[in-house]
Amino acid sequence: MRTHYCAEVNKEHINEEITVAGWVASRRDHGGLIFIDLRDKDEVIQLVCDPAEYKEVHTLAEEIRDQFVLIATGKIRARVEGLENPKLKTGNIEMLVSKLVIENRSKPMPFDLSDKKVNEEIKLKYRYLELRTQKSYDVFKLRSKATIAARNTLDALGFLEVETPIITKSTPEGARDYLVPSRVHPGEFYALPQSPQLFKQLLMVGGFDRYFQIAKCFRDEDLRADRQPEFTQIDVEMSFCDQEDVIDVAEKLIKSIFTECGIDIPNTFARISYHDAMEKYGSDKPDMRYDLSMVDVIDIFARCDNEIFSNIAKDPKSNRIKALKVPKGDTLFSKRQMKGFEEYVRKFGAQGLGYFQMKEDGLKGPLIKFFTNEDIQAIIDRCTLEVGDVVFFGAGDKKLVLDYMGRFRSYLAEIMDIIPDNHYAFIWVVDFPMFEIEEGKPKAMHHAFTMPALDKNGKLVYDDIEDLKSVAYDIVLNGTELGGGSIRIHKEALQKEIFAVMGISEEEANEKFGFLLEAFKYGAPPHGGFALGLDRLIMLLAGTESIREVIAFPKTQKAQCLLTHAPSSVEAKQLKELHLKIR
Ligand code: AMO
Repeated sequence: MRTHYCAEVNKEHINEEITVAGWVASRRDHGGLIFIDLRDKDEVIQLVCDPAEYKEVHTLAEEIRDQFVLIATGKIRARVEGLENPKLKTGNIEMLVSKLVIENRSKPMPFDLSDKKVNEEIKLKYRYLELRTQKSYDVFKLRSKATIAARNTLDALGFLEVETPIITKSTPEGARDYLVPSRVHPGEFYALPQSPQLFKQLLMVGGFDRYFQIAKCFRDEDLRADRQPEFTQIDVEMSFCDQEDVIDVAEKLIKSIFTECGIDIPNTFARISYHDAMEKYGSDKPDMRYDLSMVDVIDIFARCDNEIFSNIAKDPKSNRIKALKVPKGDTLFSKRQMKGFEEYVRKFGAQGLGYFQMKEDGLKGPLIKFFTNEDIQAIIDRCTLEVGDVVFFGAGDKKLVLDYMGRFRSYLAEIMDIIPDNHYAFIWVVDFPMFEIEEGKPKAMHHAFTMPALDKNGKLVYDDIEDLKSVAYDIVLNGTELGGGSIRIHKEALQKEIFAVMGISEEEANEKFGFLLEAFKYGAPPHGGFALGLDRLIMLLAGTESIREVIAFPKTQKAQCLLTHAPSSVEAKQLKELHLKIR
């Protein structure tokens, strides 16, 4: 219907008759002339309806309102000098319309498409209208580019794109499953996959060697700004590989996606152990865009004359006393802010927040009286304090202290405005513990198929189960977990051993993943892989605040689709067929 997209029209088309098609972004009636900004997928062109030239066109244009669908034909001419719009590609030309078709009309918009503060519920209800904005189009253009780049890179690296089932058996990955009742098998259910994890391992047993998939995953978990119940992974698995091979593929993949999106990043990324990430940054997804980090001062506090601290310091395995230095912080924060910091950490379980200030005449602070001169010097040295610095410290249970000090670190960075714009700080977090203890039982930190770190004889050896490491890695970007993966267990005996440690009985293991254990009996190759969260990646690339903006039809925080009203009740007949009754 059109001869050109708006973005294609420029000064070279002056005096040429062309046809454009799109939606009315705005209409201005200047007495004699009517100006219309017509927008197609990604650009706007100015249409001029002049009654002196084409009377019927002008008469029709009087009826036009925002978001009407038009097909307009006319000659391109230069805009009058001084009336150019440098913001538009088409800002120095316009079309004198000679033929105008109103292809469709539109009700008045339920919200102002250019208003950034519109309530999100309204926007989600009319998501297709929001998609009509330039901002949305740009996000999905980026998403499409990134996905195609991922496909091309993995294809070039010899990976085969394979689809795995969507209605399948429940595979435990830590979240709740979405269940699908079976009509032909009363009382039985499929589950939607939390990830293609087990199938991609089976593809390795199947000898495919290198697999990938742009995979839809489903997790019924509490939602946050960077979580959706239905999301997409770039999912990868490979055989006869070690951690280095997998990391190499992941780095090549990420590099190619960023390059395609016009962003220069390094070819390889720094690494930090899980242990160091937790101890220095209080997070297993540390934001490396800024420098703040923590040091341990528990040994110094052990000698102080304050019972609360010296008692905490008696158990350095379970407890922590951590110092976080803010260079020149002494002059940065008001008294009220300092008080506010304490209130902030209290929200996350802190008993309080201590601090020292490095003044011209030495270290000051409410607790200084409990320390000897040597220990004061030890604190200055350990924290490398200079005049004007302030150092905050948190003391108590290890998990709690690392958590609230980590959060406090991010909070301070925001307040101090030290997070650089347009900066991409990647870091691999490696050497994850194999297990975390939950309700007294070891629970796999990644999943139960992750390869534990074995001794040089290939045996599983550990004194304390919590110290056992795994061959698992996460890739973190600007404080967000972008992806993760591991080398997998490929031998039945080791897999059984791990299930036993986790207290999973042979029956339970067979019931849940008997098919995988059976497959391991038929020559499973060594294998491993990773998955990148595509939605999170696009969120970071596009700089959007919420994951919902990068998903065409997202769900709300309460897992609802406001556009289609899902979830919704179903007819009694459907329930009956599925052998279900609502209590
Ligand atoms: P994991 O569970 O770490 O690993 O998921 C991989 C990546 O997927 C993204 N992600 C999500 N994105 C949006 N909404 C969610 N609810 C959500 N949950 C996860 C994250 C995360 O880093 N099978 C393993 C991968 C492997 O071991 O190969 C897995 O799924 O960016």
